[in-house]
Amino acid sequence: MRTDTHHLTAARVTATPRITVVGTGYLGATHAICMAQLGYEVLGVDVDTAKIDALRSGRVPFHEPGLPEALDQAMSTGRLDFTTDFSRAAQFGDIHFLCVGTPQKPGSQAADLRFVEAAATQLAAQITGPALIVGKSTVPVGTAAMLRERVRTLSPAGRALDLAWNPEFLREGFAVQDTLHPDRLVFGVASTWAEQVLRGVYRPILEEGTPVVVSDLATSELVKVAANSFLATKISYINAMAEVCEAVDADVGDLARALAHDDRIGGRFLRPGLGFGGGCLPKDIRAFQHRARELGAGAAVRFLEDVDAINARRRSRTVELVRELAGGSLLGVRIAALGAAFKPDSDDVRDSPALDVAHRLHREGADVVVYDPEAAENAHRVHPDLPLAASLTEAMRGAQVTVLLTEWDEFREARPESLAALVAEPRVLDARDALDARGYTRAGWAYRTLGRPFAPVPSAAHPTSAAVAVREEELELCTAAAEDAEPVPLPAEP
Ligand code: UGA
Repeated sequence: MRTDTHHLTAARVTATPRITVVGTGYLGATHAICMAQLGYEVLGVDVDTAKIDALRSGRVPFHEPGLPEALDQAMSTGRLDFTTDFSRAAQFGDIHFLCVGTPQKPGSQAADLRFVEAAATQLAAQITGPALIVGKSTVPVGTAAMLRERVRTLSPAGRALDLAWNPEFLREGFAVQDTLHPDRLVFGVASTWAEQVLRGVYRPILEEGTPVVVSDLATSELVKVAANSFLATKISYINAMAEVCEAVDADVGDLARALAHDDRIGGRFLRPGLGFGGGCLPKDIRAFQHRARELGAGAAVRFLEDVDAINARRRSRTVELVRELAGGSLLGVRIAALGAAFKPDSDDVRDSPALDVAHRLHREGADVVVYDPEAAENAHRVHPDLPLAASLTEAMRGAQVTVLLTEWDEFREARPESLAALVAEPRVLDARDALDARGYTRAGWAYRTLGRPFAPVPSAAHPTSAAVAVREEELELCTAAAEDAEPVPLPAEP
């Protein structure tokens, strides 16, 4: 890999760019690895020495399916390296992707721009020739224009340095696929040169027929928060319907399926349950409200307050239902909490509904044991007081109530009969609507989920076969109509 100082012409930047990626979290590490896979020489940069050391030694410091193999491949080409040295990065790169975090500011709804500002200015101060800084982080509208002015004023390269915005839409769990084969690319540019550079660097992806939307800086920033707000709204919409269903003993599962048949609505992100979490959706809808208020457009996105509130109520409702299943009090009740990650195939516990519910149950005096296939370490870092099990079996043994909080395959695929043999009382709350309700009922479990009518909880420690038969009959009645109509399952995430 070349690391010499070079003075490229603007044309060279367009033709054979060398790439740096600043910030090597989920977004940046994936972007760096995928860019190297596309054939570029890439240097990943981070201030976190531990992360850089891990990546340099070929280890991905978080759980992301397919990424370790992709890192291996990219490293073996010799085109990918990682560093903590910003001046090396400034000299090396023609295109600098900013992939640093923009978390929620403590005590405010606003996004914390410290990292993005530091990364842009630190690089710019040391860039001496034509180059393009490309922001990928999710930022409040107006940030890119402000940063563009700032980096051009600050940099020895002056007007030869440009800045564009290119929001990222990758999902954790599908990061490699989403990076190499995105639904669309969005280029926010303030010059035709920046557009040319972006079209050049993404050529292999554009050649696959990927649609591209070229717009101004502000619009590109807005596309990202608009997309995440829409997804959050869709999830909260179906969860609001779940609340109404609960008030009349209607079935939100059937309701969602019926809505999904309408192509205009569609079934994706219409899965009722415990709601959204993670490092993106929750903080993005809050930062959007904050920024809109600053711009005098707060009324336009005030509905996002409700989206957030509906989402929060699902967590309280889950705690309430576990309490009901436990017979009215959580004190000393042994609970198996299945899942801590904010969604399956991720070890991310940021704003995780699962971890939040588990911790609330623990705080209310329940004897909670959490099991997550990947997120135990992160969960322990956030809540060191929360007992963790090393396996599903260990978590389930002796449980009086089981609550499914993250829909990992390991939980979906476990046999209800085998699990029933482990617990003290076969009572399960499926807060992700992910388990086979009939299978659980047949195996003698009192099965409940959010937004759906439920069979009465048996009073005995283990239900009698008569009680099971009654519940099965009730369930047949509940589902018969839907079966006649050949229910369409909600499309699973690809
Ligand atoms: C989200 C967006 O989907 C990505 O497009 C975006 O790039 C990313 O944020 C980001 O801004 O970086 P991600 O946070 O990885 O991606 O997770 P999602 O798959 O969107 O799931 C978010 C939450 O919604 C999870 O807690 C999930 O369990 C929940 N969810 C999802 C539901 O409760 N119901 C659904 O039907 C779908």
